[in-house]
Amino acid sequence: MIMQLEPILKEAGELLKEGFYGAFKTQYKDKADLVTEYDVLIEKFLMPKLKGAYPNDEIFGEESYKGNTFPKSGIFVDPIDGTTNFVHRLPHVGISVGVWRDGKAVEGGVYNPILDEMYLAQKGSGAFCNGTRLHVSQSTTLQEALLATGFPYTKNSSPMDLGFVLNSMTNLLPLVRDLRRYGAASLDLCLVAKGTFDGFYEINLKPWDVAAGIVMVEEAGGKVTTHEGGAYDMNDRTIIASNGAIHEALVNEIGFYE
Ligand code: IPD
Ligand code: CA
Ligand code: CA
Ligand code: CA
Repeated sequence: MIMQLEPILKEAGELLKEGFYGAFKTQYKDKADLVTEYDVLIEKFLMPKLKGAYPNDEIFGEESYKGNTFPKSGIFVDPIDGTTNFVHRLPHVGISVGVWRDGKAVEGGVYNPILDEMYLAQKGSGAFCNGTRLHVSQSTTLQEALLATGFPYTKNSSPMDLGFVLNSMTNLLPLVRDLRRYGAASLDLCLVAKGTFDGFYEINLKPWDVAAGIVMVEEAGGKVTTHEGGAYDMNDRTIIASNGAIHEALVNEIGFYE
């Protein structure tokens, strides 16, 4: 089934590249939350193609879905994950499509057309980057762990979000090898699947940021939960992904401050 995602993502990737190496208009959703004409264009391109490939699934795209809650099944689409990177021409940008059924990640594709890296995963069949099977890292301690995280775009709106960001860093930085903020959650998860990062965590992500990356991590042998260590649901506010071996240590160190 993921076979049908690949050509759709490839074609959408041509659009992304056209923008990345060309010119485009950018607008503000919020003070630090950008949207470009290519975010909208790529989503408009993807919607009918995905409807054709998955006629029975409901599709939720970042630029068109107006609701705040999400059902347990659906296709979650991020036309450009890493819009700030896209605007600054930093080549960590992905097009992400994740298929979930009954609260479980079943298929995912994330494509970075700038690096020409196509990540594909299917429940039970493994995760792959450009055809090579992915496996999470083998690190067993936080001391040897390279972690990734992200910061919410609307930092000023919620002291709780900022508290989570600052406190998790205060706890983790002295314990880990280092921490990266790379700017595209879907690809951060792919890099956990690849074993580049040993773990990833963030607050306030949306299903389109993580739907595809979660199946990638799980199929590469890793683990994904909330900050409390419970099963991740699309409506949860926090996510921790790891190689599994350091998961408990991460859950213990990443506090959640109300
Ligand atoms: C963002 C990226 C970023 C994460 C933000 C997301 P967008 O998605 O995934 O890494 O930190 O919270 O909103 O808006 O660039 O698609
Ligand atoms: Ca966005
Ligand atoms: Ca995103
Ligand atoms: Ca986006």
